Amino acid sequence: MAQARRPRTLRVLHVAAELYPWVKTGGLGDIVAALPPALLAQGIDARLCLPAFPAFLDAFHLTDAVRLATPFAAERVRVALATPPGSKIAAYLVDHPPFYDRSGGPYGSADGRDWPDNHRRFALLAWAAAALAGGADPNWRPDIVHAHDWHAGLAPAYLKAEAAPAAASVFTVHNLAYQGSFPAGVFPELSLPAGFYGLDGVEFYGGVSFLKAGLAYADRLTTVSPTYAREIQTPEFGEGLDGLLRLRADALTGILNGVDPTVWDPAHDDALPQPYDIETAEAGKAAAKAELRRRLHLFEGDAPVFGVVSRLSPQKGLDLLLAALPDLTAGGGQLALLGSGDRDLETGFAEAAAAQRGTVGVEIAYDETLARLVIAGADCIVVPSRFEPCGLTQMYALRYGTLPLVRRTGGLVDTVVDATPARLRDKTATGFMFEPATAEALAATIEWASAQYRNRASWRQMMRQAMTRDFSWAQSARQYAALYREVVG
Ligand code: ADP
Ligand code: GLC
Repeated sequence: MAQARRPRTLRVLHVAAELYPWVKTGGLGDIVAALPPALLAQGIDARLCLPAFPAFLDAFHLTDAVRLATPFAAERVRVALATPPGSKIAAYLVDHPPFYDRSGGPYGSADGRDWPDNHRRFALLAWAAAALAGGADPNWRPDIVHAHDWHAGLAPAYLKAEAAPAAASVFTVHNLAYQGSFPAGVFPELSLPAGFYGLDGVEFYGGVSFLKAGLAYADRLTTVSPTYAREIQTPEFGEGLDGLLRLRADALTGILNGVDPTVWDPAHDDALPQPYDIETAEAGKAAAKAELRRRLHLFEGDAPVFGVVSRLSPQKGLDLLLAALPDLTAGGGQLALLGSGDRDLETGFAEAAAAQRGTVGVEIAYDETLARLVIAGADCIVVPSRFEPCGLTQMYALRYGTLPLVRRTGGLVDTVVDATPARLRDKTATGFMFEPATAEALAATIEWASAQYRNRASWRQMMRQAMTRDFSWAQSARQYAALYREVVG
C-alpha cells in the first residue's frame, strides 16, 4: 500500500534590516523577532538573513561561515551562520565591514542623514539572500525567500533574474512610504539584468525604487493589516504605487501583526513597579501611573493621562495632537509623551511641557523602559496617525489595559473597537476613534474619552475587554504558513 506522504517541512529565509532587541528603529524590529519563532511553532523551518551590524556580531554566537564572491566587493564576503542568544532561529549575517560596521543607525548616521551608499549596502543583503536560495550554504537552502520592506526589496528581483528562480518569494510591506529611492545612475551598480530597469521593473519616476522591485518581482505580496492592504490600492494611500498594487491585487494579502507575549506582558514586565494581570490591573496600573507621573513631573490627582510612544514623523499625526493640546488640558487631561524624530515636533512638545509643567510631560528620547511605563501608566494611548500599516503600540496598550484613542485608518481599524453607544451597550468597545485628520476631530474624541473615563464602571469594563483581545501570533503565523504552502504549490 502506498504510504501517505508527509508534507515536507518548508524552509523560509526572512530577509530584514532590523531585529529586536539589537537593532530596532520601529515596529519592523519587533515583527522580525516575533514572526519566525511563531512560524517554527507552525512547523515552518525559518531562518533570518541580516546585515552583520556590530550589535549582532557582538551579541550572537557564530557557528559557521561561507565566503561568497559578490558583485559588491573585490574580496569575498563572509556570510556567517549565528544564533541570537535565547533564540531558536538561526541567522545568516552578511558580513562586509565597509558596509555595515558603522556607528549610527541601520540606515543613516546619528545625525539622521541616510548613508550615501545605502543602495549598495542593501543590494548586497538581498543578493546574499538570493545566493543562499541558490545553495550558498550546502546544509540549508530555503524554499521561500521572505523579504521585509525596501531594505530587502531587491531579493525577489535577484531571484527572478535567474532563468529558473532558486526559490519562491514573498515580499511584505511594513510601510509603503519608505521606498528606498535612488537616482537612476545607481542601476548599473546593482548587477541586475538591463531589462529590469523599466516601467514593469525597478524604475520609478525616473529613478530606482527598491520597494517597487519587491512589489514587481515577488511571487506574493503581503502587508501588515487587511485594511492597509485595501487602502494602498487607492491613490490616497498608494504613494504612487497604487496602480501596480491594483494590478497585483490577486497576489496581495493583508495579514495582521501579532503581539509577542514573551516581550509584552504586564504580568512579567520588569519595567513596571507592580506587574499586573487582568484581576490586579487597577492596582498595577495605578502604581505605574504614579511612577510615570514622577518620571515626567506630572501632578497627582484623578486626571486621565493620555500617553504617546512614537516616532515623531508626519505619518503619526502628532501635529494634530500638538494643536489639540489646549483642549486636552482644558478638559482636565494630562499628556505623557515619549518620542523623537521631526525637529519641529520635538521643539513644539518640549515647549508645551515647559509652559505647562505638571500637566504636560515630555521626554524627547528613544527609551524602551520608559515606553513600557507610558504604555502601562497612561489611561489612553493616543495614535492619531494619518496612515498606519498596522501599528503596534495600540496593541501593546490593549494588552496592558490602556485604551487606545486612534484615527480610523489602516491597522488601527482592525485592532480597536470604537466606544460608540452601541458598542458600549454590547460591551465590545476597547477604545476611541476619530476620522477626519483634524485637531478638532481629535479634540472632540479626547473630550468623549475624558467623559468616559469618569464613568468608572464602564471604563473598567472596557479595560477588561481590551485585555482579553487575542493578538497572539499563532493566528497570523497560520496565515503566513498557508500562503507559503500555496506559493510553492
Ligand atoms: P512604527 O513602526 O511605524 O514606528 P509601530 O507602532 O509599529 O510604529 O512600532 C513602534 C515600535 O517602536 C513600538 O515597539 C514602540 O514601542 C517603539 N517606539 C516608538 N518610539 C519609541 C520611543 N521613543 N522609545 C521607545 N520605543 C519607541
Ligand atoms: C511599520 C509601520 C507600522 C507597523 C510596523 C510593523 O513601521 O509603520 O504600522 O506596525 O511597520 O509591521
